[in-house]
Amino acid sequence: MPSSLVIANWKMHGDRAFAEAFFSALDLTGVAADVAICPPFPYLSLVAGRVEQAGFGQLALGAQSVCAEEGGAFTGEVSADMLVDCGVRYVIVGHSERRSLYGETSELVARKFAAVKKAGLVPVLCVGETLEEREAGRTLEVISGQLQAVADCLGVEAWRGAVVAYEPVWAIGTGKTAAPEQAQEVHRFIRERLGEAGGDTPLLYGGSVKSGNAEALFTQQDIDGALVGGASLDAKEFVSICRAAG
Ligand code: 13P
Repeated sequence: MPSSLVIANWKMHGDRAFAEAFFSALDLTGVAADVAICPPFPYLSLVAGRVEQAGFGQLALGAQSVCAEEGGAFTGEVSADMLVDCGVRYVIVGHSERRSLYGETSELVARKFAAVKKAGLVPVLCVGETLEEREAGRTLEVISGQLQAVADCLGVEAWRGAVVAYEPVWAIGTGKTAAPEQAQEVHRFIRERLGEAGGDTPLLYGGSVKSGNAEALFTQQDIDGALVGGASLDAKEFVSICRAAG
């Protein structure tokens, strides 16, 4: 059984004062799930310090993106080794906002995934369909293609030590959550597609997760946790989601 995991994706929100206030209010006492916080790059070191000070054994630092290259003349980019140096453990790759707003292809996402693994970190691969794709009955085909790009790059061993997050694009930041059964159906499909490693790979759901819907999602057999955007900006709300996960 994969362990439960809840990841906060702060996206491009917050500042130093926000991070300080968030950690003052973060109380993970009694939470069994693993938890990670992904702040914007400039606050990684600050949050690394707060994660350490907080003293919760299950709490780790994550990053929202990474460069596929190891280092060199790539202005504005951040390498996986730099993330290691900052104390990062999890790295989100292939978030739909990176795919749609910054033109990241599944091939580039696969190279980023490989860079994260090479650095010894845990990639959190985001997959998901748009509303148009869902309505055209192409959900599983789209997700299959996004997974296959990584498998083509690294083989089936890719999934060992990785996390996959199903984030239907139409549910992100819209307040529309996938129905638990709808999400479960896709999670089951993903689990099967991962082959042997699938049984140990945490599968997270993302898209308008909040304390009010978390429990119904987490009771589904193949939903092991959540990737949380908006609701992760409120420490108390985020902790409620973590508690629902275990
Ligand atoms: P929301 O929780 O704001 O819908 O965002 C989901 C997401 O994109 C997490 O990566």
